[in-house]
Amino acid sequence: MAVKFYQAQNQVPLEMHKVRMVQKLSLLPVEERLKKIQEAGNNTFLLQNRDIYLDMLTDSGVNAMTDLQMAASMRADDSYAGSETFTRVKNAVKEVFGTDNVLPAHQGRACENILASALVKPGQVALMNFHFTTTKAHVTRMGGTVEELVAEKGLAPQSDDPFKGDFDLGKLRATIEEKGAENVAFVRVEAGTNLIGGQPVSLENMLAVTDICHDNNIISVLDASLLQDNVYFMKTREARCKYMDIKSIYHLLADHFDIIYFSARKLGFAKGGIITSKDAKYTKMMMEYIPLYEGFLTYGGIDVRTMEAMAQGLYESLDMEYINQGPEFINYLAKELHEYGVPVILPAGGLGCHLNAGAFVPDMPHNEYPAAAVAAALYIAGGIRGMERGTLSEQRNPDGTEPYSELELMRLAVPRRVYTLSQLKYVADRVKWVWDNRELIGGLEWVEEPSVLRFFFGRLKEKGYWQEQLAEKFRKDFGDSL
Ligand code: F0G
Repeated sequence: MAVKFYQAQNQVPLEMHKVRMVQKLSLLPVEERLKKIQEAGNNTFLLQNRDIYLDMLTDSGVNAMTDLQMAASMRADDSYAGSETFTRVKNAVKEVFGTDNVLPAHQGRACENILASALVKPGQVALMNFHFTTTKAHVTRMGGTVEELVAEKGLAPQSDDPFKGDFDLGKLRATIEEKGAENVAFVRVEAGTNLIGGQPVSLENMLAVTDICHDNNIISVLDASLLQDNVYFMKTREARCKYMDIKSIYHLLADHFDIIYFSARKLGFAKGGIITSKDAKYTKMMMEYIPLYEGFLTYGGIDVRTMEAMAQGLYESLDMEYINQGPEFINYLAKELHEYGVPVILPAGGLGCHLNAGAFVPDMPHNEYPAAAVAAALYIAGGIRGMERGTLSEQRNPDGTEPYSELELMRLAVPRRVYTLSQLKYVADRVKWVWDNRELIGGLEWVEEPSVLRFFFGRLKEKGYWQEQLAEKFRKDFGDSL
């Protein structure tokens, strides 16, 4: 139940936790920030943490743990095989999903490596509402392709549709018919669809997808990495879920999907990854890859202390007072920016607040990387680190041409329970300043462009001197403020 404020105009999301450990931050002067982003090749992945005030690159592996997670990690049972820690992880997965078969892997993409190794044959297609970078890379590594079947509403930057991650069910049926069910390796539903702004999928849509899979004898897979946010949206936006308890939603999903996997850097607020299924035949198909790539079946490359924290984090993912924190903070930030006129993805999803960077610089061509330019501008303006999620995050085609991203997004992830509302207000303030000064923002060009995963390692430089001009304008507007 949300706590109502006496004065409605003062209503803000209210935390149901207290913070008892803190970590020092620093904010460099704007001249230093200008220097640091240029030294980092205008790539926020290449910035050093000591030079960052608010790190909003990701919510992966950086959420604040609870006292009970920290305490749980102290009773870890370290043994190569048969550890009690794994039994506790299995019990937690059983409680949350109701599934008995559990495979551990070192993180989400390791689960994807194993899924693709076991399920994808050359020439097959994997159907998804939307790809995730690592998922697609593993499917293509096995000689498969990915086809995206998100409903059209998913790609509209702003709408009031509550479930923009939904599959287009008609398209799903038609694609299966056209390709032939035997050529479909699996259908994957990504909860809290990452690359289109953390947009949720409705329970109704998820169950309809699994029904279609069942009718066609195709394996259904749920990427549950962002399921926690997605369940919050089901509870608050979908009538049939309002009175369901959170656990029964998880259990219903596990009854319908053949395979569920997740990155425990997100679900479980720890590190690691899990693949689970109700029917042992699916985990059997993948089991042999775990000792080969990850580690023995009872640790899968995850440190035992982390596994204990994950188990506790999974129990906590059933608590609305914990899971509401991310989406409500993200909504606060998105609403604040939207009301000022800053183009953000609406409705706000999970994971983070997504700026529609393309609209900041509408005349900038995709190959000058509008979202990366806005990310660099925001670091200069506030020492805030966001992430480019647009054309730069795409991979070049084999003929060297660039696929242009439909949406040029700049993501401001909101690590859970890490930043306070005053810090989010600061973020909103600096984003508004960047918006008001958007005519100063210029493009970027490559200095070093790696052929794979260029967004991680690539280095770019500003075209002209727009960043110096932006820093000068900051000094003029903010005086001697940091
Ligand atoms: N699936 C989804 C939906 C994800 O968001 C991620 C990671 C993965 C799989 C891979 O998991 O990182 O544990 O290997 N997303 C991170 C992010 C990297 O920043 O959004 P992983």
